[in-house]
Amino acid sequence: MENIEVLIIGCGIAGATAALRLAQNPERQITIITRASDAHESNTRYAQGGIIGRGPDDSSELLFEDIVAAGAGVSSPQAARILADEGPQLLNEVLERTAGVVFDHTAEGTPIWGQEAAHSRRRILHVGDATGRAIMKGLVAALNDRPNITIKSEATAVDLITFPHHSRNPLDNYREISCHGCYVFDRSEKTVHRYLASATILATGGLGRIYRNTTNPVGARGDGLAMAHRAGARIANAEYVQFHPTALAAPGAEGLLISEAVRGEGGVLLTPELRPFMERYSPQWKDLAPRDVVARAIHHEMEAQGYSYVLLDIASHMPTDAIRERFPFIYDECLKVGLDISREPVPVVPAAHYFCGGVLVDEWARSTIRNLYAVGEISCTGVHGANRLASTSLLEGLVWGNRAALEIERAISAETNGQKPKFEDIPSWDESGLSAEPDPALIQGDMQTIQNIMWHYVGLVRSADRLSRAIRELRHLWNEIETFYRTTKLSDGLIGLRNAVEVALIVAQAAQHNRQSRGCHYRQDSVSVTGDRLI
Ligand code: SIN
Repeated sequence: MENIEVLIIGCGIAGATAALRLAQNPERQITIITRASDAHESNTRYAQGGIIGRGPDDSSELLFEDIVAAGAGVSSPQAARILADEGPQLLNEVLERTAGVVFDHTAEGTPIWGQEAAHSRRRILHVGDATGRAIMKGLVAALNDRPNITIKSEATAVDLITFPHHSRNPLDNYREISCHGCYVFDRSEKTVHRYLASATILATGGLGRIYRNTTNPVGARGDGLAMAHRAGARIANAEYVQFHPTALAAPGAEGLLISEAVRGEGGVLLTPELRPFMERYSPQWKDLAPRDVVARAIHHEMEAQGYSYVLLDIASHMPTDAIRERFPFIYDECLKVGLDISREPVPVVPAAHYFCGGVLVDEWARSTIRNLYAVGEISCTGVHGANRLASTSLLEGLVWGNRAALEIERAISAETNGQKPKFEDIPSWDESGLSAEPDPALIQGDMQTIQNIMWHYVGLVRSADRLSRAIRELRHLWNEIETFYRTTKLSDGLIGLRNAVEVALIVAQAAQHNRQSRGCHYRQDSVSVTGDRLI
């Protein structure tokens, strides 16, 4: 049993930013848990392209307009405004000054601004093509420097600890449930602990791993979303799963992201017969059209022509040395599987990349459950709407991580947390009746079934028939997995499987409910509402 002030579940840019801001008060005790063995491991670490800064010819207004345009009419203008106003300054304060991240610059010290799809300006700061790695290195070093932050690795959150809340303040009544921490599975001890907290922040990243093809790391299985859903939090925009157009399609390196920055630097998509095709789908933006348009165009080419991939060619558009200097990570990773991006086009396919929906939060990262906050990819602030603008995710993590911390500091100082349960009120985890160890073959088999259902029926192109089929099969699996979970000893894999089927159903049901195609939710049985955005 642990009694802590602020519990942060997840250690990417959003959770780390919240922790660093809270730690400025030396009285605050902050605990971060991560299921990974190494705190550097998170979705953030895999970000390649970069993060939005404010270039010389840029403004908050221009960024706001680009975010809202990409969001296809679903973004919250208020949230997009907050991001555009606060993001670039926090980048400087948290990443450059606190975490010591040095973004690429010229010999004279001028930042080298990158270009990505649907941005009206060059405004992406990057560290080569491994921006997320540089950010996590700096952030983890800064976290380790703070005496009032504890990081606990190999700790998988199981379920939130919630109580009904009986507030005397009628304005608070809409938040009827309170969160008081989390049950946490310690992977080395194989035991479950109760972590009791005044405030809990979900910062668990996305859910790309519920799809067969994804750019996401193994931990991205929607843990935070599933826990919040089981606890009764409101979830929003779950149908909007963004597919990245270009993941490497080569045995041994499936899902390796080939950054949009490659197309930003002139890379062109080609059919296997070396014919460019994006002009037919987006005469204005061509290869730098919004992600949903490019991903569907590739899908359409593959389906119509029977291709198993298309090609991405940067070799004909950039000198060899410049490619190696600008994209050293992608260059090295491709070479490992026998592909040289500086000499030849490489095979790519779309892959699930980013969850634009999530746990519904307000401008201070508050969910619909008292004392439960959500930040980063697992939250839905409203910024991304139906389709996220490239390189906004790290920025959103910074802004809402910071805002969650400010709000928690306010709430704890004002002692507005209502009744807190005592340790003895929280039942301890009871596995006494369970003897069966989880069977890894069952876990892997069920996970693959979920991934295939999601890929084929809840993927880039959806229809009523595909979605009904997905929901029927997922419901059946949900029942099977729930029985498995209740009769078997815990493991990280079993927790992940239970969460994966829960969030797969959430996504599939939201997709079935919304019959209107917008942004990254495309239904072939609906009327186009966004003109040339659809194929
Ligand atoms: C990329 O580098 O293409 C990914 C950037 C992002 O998802 O924002």
